[in-house]
Amino acid sequence: MRAIQIAELEGPHAARLVDVDEPAAGDDLVVVDVHAAGVAFPDALQSRGLYQHKPPLPYTPGAEVAGVVRSAPEDAHVRPGDRVAGLTMLCGAMAEVVALQPNRVFKLPDSVSFEAGAGLLFNDLTVHFALRTRGRLSDGETVLVHGAAGGIGTSALRLAPAFGASRTIAVVGSEDKADVARAAGASDVVLADGFKDAVKDLTDDRGVDIVVDPVGGDRFTDSLRSLAPGGRLLVIGFTGGEIPTVKVNRLLLNNIDAVGVGWGAWTFTHPDYLQEQWAELEPLLASGAVPAPEPVVFPLERAGDAIASLEDRTARGKVVVTVR
Ligand SMILES: NC(=O)c1ccc[n+]([C@@H]2O[C@H](COP(=O)([O-])OP(=O)(O)OC[C@H]3O[C@@H](n4cnc5c(N)ncnc54)[C@H](OP(=O)(O)O)[C@@H]3O)[C@@H](O)[C@H]2O)c1
Repeated sequence: MRAIQIAELEGPHAARLVDVDEPAAGDDLVVVDVHAAGVAFPDALQSRGLYQHKPPLPYTPGAEVAGVVRSAPEDAHVRPGDRVAGLTMLCGAMAEVVALQPNRVFKLPDSVSFEAGAGLLFNDLTVHFALRTRGRLSDGETVLVHGAAGGIGTSALRLAPAFGASRTIAVVGSEDKADVARAAGASDVVLADGFKDAVKDLTDDRGVDIVVDPVGGDRFTDSLRSLAPGGRLLVIGFTGGEIPTVKVNRLLLNNIDAVGVGWGAWTFTHPDYLQEQWAELEPLLASGAVPAPEPVVFPLERAGDAIASLEDRTARGKVVVTVR
């Protein structure tokens, strides 16, 4: 089969299209003919050996796919011919065939294309975990979203209203990304530079109830300052590079929480959780209450460029590669 491989940890452009054997399909795995694969920030970090999960070399990048089931165990919830999305957790997706654990395979609604399907699991399930399980989002709350034109960011903007948020404020690094955040549903868009004062103005000094933070770095303290009493800052990632530190007196003085969101780790200790999440998300996607993502699509042979677009910040919304 055709697959992308990274043999040296020299960054996204080390990605090569090669021919390799199809994965061994154990009796207990679902084999999927892949149509599209998602690209996420960990793919960029992994290509430089900077992510916590370090696959042996050479490896095939990509954590999520959409495609058609080729074969499935007798007792699985999917059958050959079903359109599905699936999680490889955390590599192997950019290939024509994958073999997945059944609990990491999800039937796609007919209305969701393979490209959209390949681009929704990783972010939407993380954001669902962040807003619902860890962030305890309630009806009528206001959500501030950093990295709002990125994968996690656009997912948070699409999902927050369906989970009860009455307002979403998007934070983007440059003007040219504002349209992406608006198209994903942002009520307001502000620039990262000076976002604290803009949020103060927009909320009449009250602040927001939740901050979705996949960026970290030097804006972290201003994010804490932007929370209303009882507010929660959801720590999702550090695309800004630096891992910030918290002076915990800020939490005490303002009655706010800094909340860790480690979705992958949670799924390993809660094996039924992924399917429970999908049971909540799938009807929202099928009914259109949550719009499917509209990813930027690269052909498989340009997987290196696709991954690099996250690293060099030129990506707009979710990025996927088409495989067949
Ligand atoms: N905790 C979890 O369970 C979990 C699950 C999935 C992903 N994540 C993490 O979430 C983060 C976001 O992933 P993603 O796939 O959404 O990435 P993405 O699509 O590349 O979006 C990240 C955003 O970060 C902003 N950013 C600020 N400084 C940046 C810098 N120096 N380099 C690159 N981007 C920068 C960019 O927005 P502007 O240019 O507008 O500032 C960009 O749109 C990653 O750290 C990823 O590992 C965590």
